[in-house]
Amino acid sequence: MTATLTLPERPPALKAESKNLDFYYGSFRALKSVSMPVYENKVTALIGPSGCGKSTYLRCYNRMHDLYPGNRYEGSIDLHPDQVNVLHPSVDPIEVRMRVSMVFQKPNPFPKSIFENVVYGLRVRGEKSRSFLEDKVEAALKGAALWEEVKDRLDEVAVNLSGGQQQRLCIARSLATDPEILLFDEPTSALDPIATGSIEELISVIKGKVTILIVTHNMQQAARVSDFVAYMYLGELIEFGETREIFMKPKRRETEDYITGRFG
Ligand SMILES: Nc1ncnc2c1ncn2[C@@H]1O[C@H](COP(=O)(O)OP(=O)(O)OP(=O)(O)O)[C@@H](O)[C@H]1O
Ligand SMILES: [Mg+2]
Repeated sequence: MTATLTLPERPPALKAESKNLDFYYGSFRALKSVSMPVYENKVTALIGPSGCGKSTYLRCYNRMHDLYPGNRYEGSIDLHPDQVNVLHPSVDPIEVRMRVSMVFQKPNPFPKSIFENVVYGLRVRGEKSRSFLEDKVEAALKGAALWEEVKDRLDEVAVNLSGGQQQRLCIARSLATDPEILLFDEPTSALDPIATGSIEELISVIKGKVTILIVTHNMQQAARVSDFVAYMYLGELIEFGETREIFMKPKRRETEDYITGRFG
């Protein structure tokens, strides 16, 4: 008989961390002192009832709220290992969006070719070399499990793709700039079960390369794809923990009520 040696699991490295994060839409305080770690190469799912602040929290990570006047952040979001606080006024939001990229609920390809969609961020960055861009397109589309389906039609307009293909294209567009963190806001809610399955599979693969934060209303999806879960309610982080723990043995009654559907 061979004895199996089980080594203690290495604790995951910290990729980012929000500290006492408050967010205001004008005078409305949508996030209340949210402190939460985000672990490297892990998937963290944000769950909670509608209006609890999941999208608001996600959008702080790439300074999306800067696009509208009257919005205000307090507290910090540090990216590691360099410990840059992405919310600091001296930090350029365009730079932040290169490091922290977002995939939206509804696929939103630009009215351009498949190729131009993928290279969009690279062109913004000033990349001009055709061979460099071609290599990046191939790598990003392979990374998004779309290459085989589109490699012979890169010059076709992206809107001709199916919804699931468009969402994978948006993932490829995000991957092309080599971000450190990918934000997904309900990325499969507009997709059928097959396309949803392929996106979930993709998330499990790309987390080898990037750290992922995902908002989902689907508890099965959170259980399937995430390593950590954050339960939010009315702008507050109620509970954070390993997915297994949150679903099997949540510490807070409110979390249990929500995940078992007893909420409300
Ligand atoms: N642009 C805005 N201006 C003012 N208030 C807003 C704005 N966007 C969101 N809010 C408010 O902030 C709170 C959090 O909204 P948020 O969109 O983050 O919730 P959510 O958890 O993502 O909800 P859902 O599950 O429905 O997407 C809500 O009370 C919402 O009404
Ligand atoms: Mg939302």
